[in-house]
Amino acid sequence: MSGRAKWVEQLLVWFSEHRRPMPWRDDPSPYRVWISEIMLQQTQVATVIPYFERFLARFPSVESLAAADSQEVLKLWEGLGYYSRARNLHKAAAVVAESFDGELPRTAEALLALPGIGDYASAAIASIAYGEALPSVDGNVLRVFSRFWGIEDDVLLPATRQAVRERLMPHIRKSNPSDFNQAMMELGALVCRPKSPDCVDCPLAPRCVARSRKLTHLLPVKARVAKVPHYTEAVAVIRRRGKILICRRPEAGLLGGLWEFPVGRREGREAMRRTLARGVQRQTGLVLDASEKRGTVKHAFSHFKVTLDVFACTVLSGRVIVSEHEEARWVTPAELEKLPLPTAQRKIAELV
Ligand code: ADE
Repeated sequence: MSGRAKWVEQLLVWFSEHRRPMPWRDDPSPYRVWISEIMLQQTQVATVIPYFERFLARFPSVESLAAADSQEVLKLWEGLGYYSRARNLHKAAAVVAESFDGELPRTAEALLALPGIGDYASAAIASIAYGEALPSVDGNVLRVFSRFWGIEDDVLLPATRQAVRERLMPHIRKSNPSDFNQAMMELGALVCRPKSPDCVDCPLAPRCVARSRKLTHLLPVKARVAKVPHYTEAVAVIRRRGKILICRRPEAGLLGGLWEFPVGRREGREAMRRTLARGVQRQTGLVLDASEKRGTVKHAFSHFKVTLDVFACTVLSGRVIVSEHEEARWVTPAELEKLPLPTAQRKIAELV
């Protein structure tokens, strides 16, 4: 196509030579592109591929996903994190099945109205599945262009993202939008990496401002992120007659709908067994008899970190009455396998 900037030509040539095969690239139906873009948020391609394949094998269409049990959807998401993505995907499938006759809306604007689809995903899906000329600007693309154009503004500010989007607009209009967006993503993943970027092999290097000004290691600028809190918690794996007690979290909020062992959060410098007894009694009404420490699991969420001391426990008295959970169940180890558990809880289950 004529009138394209030289750097765009070079980016697209580079992409045609380096694009990695991905299951959603080889067959970019709107449904497959949608699922892949949701899974790829905050998650690397190599991690996503096996999840994508399992998900598509089980839910090959919008209708099959809409009709699914939410626990099964969460189970297929187990280990991928950011579980609200799965809950929103499931809700959005119901909307598409009911209101759009199973066909994903064809514009970014219409996609934006669906649960779980924001600016980035709507542009990515509309460009890749339907060829709409809208740049999808995520953290990787911001890194590439803050370097290429020498942008020293905080990339965490919405205004910076919007400025990059607008500056990319005329270029994507003159390109194949799907290739243009995926080329930017691929360059961010393979070449313009956060640390040790591979400038020698970069198609944008000849005109890269950061490179000519020796700023590459300083860009992108991200205003200091507040230090995340770190909690210490005591987790109870309670056994009774060969079964284990497990609780389901409320649908709304962090890890919604997933299962976890009863837990207490440490207050001040209290002894961990005190934390354990207090937490278990508050969440389940049970009074513990014995407990034996089995190990420690650490986990980092996006907004906090947690260290979990794990105890194998038995019950002295009481009947289970849930307070903070939706439900509690005594399950066999085989039943526990089948429930959707967050990554840290799965590690706990393997400790005891
Ligand atoms: N990251 C987000 N979307 C992607 C895509 N379509 N291809 C590669 N990486 C991505």
